[in-house]
Amino acid sequence: MSDKIGTAVIGCGIFGSIHAEAYSVHPASELLWVCDIDERRAKELAEKFRCRFTTSLEEIGEDERVQIVSIATPDFAHFEPTMKMLAKNKNVLVEKPMATSSEEAEKMAREAERRRVFLMVDFHNRFNPPFNEAKRAIEEGRIGKPLMAYARLSNSLYVPLQMLSWSGKSGPHWFLMPHIIDLLLWFFTQKPKSVFAKAHKGILSSRGVDTYDFIQALISFEDGFATVESSWILPDSSPSIVDFQFQLIGEKGKIEINGTRQGIEIAGEKFTYPFVADKRELYGEKWGFVFMPIWYFVNCVQNKVKPEITPEDGIMVTKVIEGLEKSLKMGKEVEIL
Ligand SMILES: NC(=O)c1ccc[n+]([C@@H]2O[C@H](COP(=O)([O-])OP(=O)(O)OC[C@H]3O[C@@H](n4cnc5c(N)ncnc54)[C@H](O)[C@@H]3O)[C@@H](O)[C@H]2O)c1
Repeated sequence: MSDKIGTAVIGCGIFGSIHAEAYSVHPASELLWVCDIDERRAKELAEKFRCRFTTSLEEIGEDERVQIVSIATPDFAHFEPTMKMLAKNKNVLVEKPMATSSEEAEKMAREAERRRVFLMVDFHNRFNPPFNEAKRAIEEGRIGKPLMAYARLSNSLYVPLQMLSWSGKSGPHWFLMPHIIDLLLWFFTQKPKSVFAKAHKGILSSRGVDTYDFIQALISFEDGFATVESSWILPDSSPSIVDFQFQLIGEKGKIEINGTRQGIEIAGEKFTYPFVADKRELYGEKWGFVFMPIWYFVNCVQNKVKPEITPEDGIMVTKVIEGLEKSLKMGKEVEIL
């Protein structure tokens, strides 16, 4: 029997295939299973990465060789597979958002604690080099205490209208904001106190996707505040499907990150800013910041070291987005408990 760590992926779409790819190349991991409710998708991914496929969560749960399971189902469908895997004592790496309610996220955290297994949310932008450097700069005191921030992560229409089949059951707040809210909380290292949000509906809903077109929210901390913004209606003529901007002002300095432009522009038939830091391959070797947290999680399990991205980080991000939804309903600032 192999002494490698048995790994499995639930959800074989765009991001599940990144998890499968990451597990298939990590030297300590053996990708054993991929699972999807759509058998054809699971079969295709299994053929690509030479592992078994199933449509049954139970089959993965029962396989004692499996120690790590990634959950890459749609935003609203993380709870059930995570709970089932935790109940079988598997270490779980769950895609963002951890869950779409803090009650679910808290139950997941409690179950992981009870089972003494690791549960980590895949906040991969912590591994995105400029954001990683920003954290280091803050820790080294280069800008002083963070006091004000502006963070924008948006997509062009292609994402809700073509890329995701379930966009109407999510929204820019659940799909995009976990990235920027996690980064803010990581940088501020303060508990958020309240959130006040405004949003617009109509453009996507007129095209059959019943969710917000764009959202802005003000998140307040004990000392300082941050504006977050996400839109799902940028034009498809944009040079990139991602618009990612970040500004952080500290008591004695400032950090600016342009996460959209990654040092290259190509003027061909279309003018584009290719996204280059996420996933690269050269001479058969793979690297990039989307693989890093998956490899990090394997290393944590292998070395029995608690991941530094904690379930509490995932819960707090979920609470802020839940508060944002409540603020939109009530039309006023909402406390985050
Ligand atoms: N696409 C991205 O750029 C991106 C980036 C970062 C994170 N994520 C996150 O990854 C997760 C998956 O997103 P995606 O873009 O890969 O979606 P996707 O639609 O491409 O894939 C989701 C897959 O899950 C399957 N599925 C649904 N319910 C299931 C269940 N109960 N059990 C097993 N399989 C099930 C679907 O059939 C589908 O194949 C989401 O939470 C998303 O926010 C996506």
